[in-house]
Amino acid sequence: MLLQQLSVLALLLLCPVWADNFYQDATVTFGDHRTQIQDGGRLLALSLDKISGSGFQSKNEYLFGRFDMQLKIVPGNSAGTVTTFYLSSQGAGHDEIDFEFLGNSSGQPYTVHATVYSQ
Ligand SMILES: *[C@@H]1O[C@H](CO)[C@@H](O)[C@H](O)[C@H]1NC(C)=O
Repeated sequence: MLLQQLSVLALLLLCPVWADNFYQDATVTFGDHRTQIQDGGRLLALSLDKISGSGFQSKNEYLFGRFDMQLKIVPGNSAGTVTTFYLSSQGAGHDEIDFEFLGNSSGQPYTVHATVYSQ
């Protein structure tokens, strides 16, 4: 599987990620102020409120890499929410690796989907 571009979409309460410099290496794709770059560009935090989630995408393409991420899923009644971390290529062929946490009604367990899609 050839991953050409990293892309992360997150509907999260808090999602810190470290890299060399997120100011230079990432583009906020949605969520505006819900995405915050901190610690001189070494930390990117995504958050969710009642209006929107947030997400970012790497500017460069990568063949492989290492990802360190902390996810906090929606507590309590999380029905209708999807907290996801995914990697996606761009261009004609489409490869994707997904980790999706599907919310549920209060007190009920989450469903986790792990999907690999390749063309
Ligand atoms: C919600 O929890 C119930 C009970 O465990 C389960 O049957 C159902 O599949 C869950 N739904 C989701 C979307 O996780």
